[in-house]
Amino acid sequence: MTQPGHSHPLSLSLGLLLLLAAALHQSLATSLQTTAAPHKDLGRPERGNYTVTNSNGTVCLMARMGLQLNVSFNSSSQGKTVLDVVNLQPNLTKSSGSCDTDTASLVLTTDGEKTNLTFSFSLNVTSSKYHLSGVTLSALWPDMSVPFNAQNSSLDYLRGTLGRSYMCREEQTLDVAKELSINTFQLQVQPFGITGDQFGAAEECQLDEDDMLIPIIVGAALAGLVLIVLVAYLIGRKRSHAGYQTI
Ligand SMILES: *[C@@H]1O[C@H](CO)[C@@H](O)[C@H](O)[C@H]1NC(C)=O
Ligand SMILES: *[C@@H]1O[C@H](CO)[C@@H](O)[C@H](O)[C@H]1NC(C)=O
Ligand SMILES: *[C@@H]1O[C@H](CO)[C@@H](O)[C@H](O)[C@H]1NC(C)=O
Ligand SMILES: *[C@@H]1O[C@H](CO)[C@@H](O)[C@H](O)[C@H]1NC(C)=O
Ligand SMILES: *[C@@H]1O[C@H](CO)[C@@H](O)[C@H](O)[C@H]1NC(C)=O
Ligand SMILES: *[C@@H]1O[C@H](CO)[C@@H](O)[C@H](O)[C@H]1NC(C)=O
Ligand SMILES: *[C@@H]1O[C@H](CO)[C@@H](O)[C@H](O)[C@H]1NC(C)=O
Ligand SMILES: *[C@@H]1O[C@H](CO)[C@@H](O)[C@H](O)[C@H]1NC(C)=O
Repeated sequence: MTQPGHSHPLSLSLGLLLLLAAALHQSLATSLQTTAAPHKDLGRPERGNYTVTNSNGTVCLMARMGLQLNVSFNSSSQGKTVLDVVNLQPNLTKSSGSCDTDTASLVLTTDGEKTNLTFSFSLNVTSSKYHLSGVTLSALWPDMSVPFNAQNSSLDYLRGTLGRSYMCREEQTLDVAKELSINTFQLQVQPFGITGDQFGAAEECQLDEDDMLIPIIVGAALAGLVLIVLVAYLIGRKRSHAGYQTI
């Protein structure tokens, strides 16, 4: 008769468990990475600090972000539509704009006024929720045969609550129009309800929350496996104990 409880399988099971956890973490991490592939050719845009002050000198809109413009336009040298991806350089970019009770805008103008980018935010006063409702880009870059213009005033991005800031560390793509999309990096913005030149508490975007999900999933899976092994071990011990008594 065999004695299953004699050589304890616990250490073996724990080793297997760690291997499993490592494999799980690896596969989860890679599967989430592929959804946010980095653009190696250009590199990440530098993060800029942009503010808007109202007439009495108080800061009424704050934004910290890296911006990358993805523009398709008719190239005058190539005579066809080309795709151009450009990083906004914060030290060459000026910010201005306006703040009202239920609308606010941030206008970014680069050196020589070759690029004017406007973000328009709307606040729903009854629900105390704000969002990015419009984007306008006008540009006159060297290879453009005619000035570029794209706008969309029915957007619904960067949704936040009055008095709080909206934050997205991960790269996020804002599709504006057929010929314009904007990639944002390490974004934090607050278009309404700023007190004391400081961001309010941050509300994180879904992408960031997904990122935090990886360790949570791995941790939960690990805890579950530990429990299973423990239960199996205890059952095994009880059985072998019972076995001794009948002999
Ligand atoms: C941007 O603002 C943050 C917080 O106010 C500050 O720590 C940082 O030095 C600023 N960066 C630049 C380049 O001004
Ligand atoms: C500045 O103007 C804003 C709105 O226009 C107002 O809420 C605020 O109290 C004013 N601050 C000062 C110091 O006047
Ligand atoms: C730019 O947009 C095009 C399609 O509009 C897309 O295929 C390309 O991946 C985008 N590039 C970047 C760097 O976002
Ligand atoms: C490029 O030019 C063609 C015709 O010349 C026009 O139909 C098209 O809308 C233009 N594309 C852009 C992005 O301006
Ligand atoms: C702006 O920043 C870039 C990169 O940090 C640097 O190469 C460039 O010299 C700066 N330009 C000015 C005008 O400060
Ligand atoms: C503002 O929010 C309220 C409550 O959620 C909603 O009923 C209303 O339609 C919203 N107003 C606008 C202009 O979106
Ligand atoms: C950007 O705005 C400035 C000031 O309003 C204007 O002079 C300039 O022509 C604009 N540039 C483009 C490319 O539209
Ligand atoms: C504006 O954005 C909305 C929502 O993303 C989209 O459905 C619509 O087609 C866009 N309009 C234009 C003119 O691109």
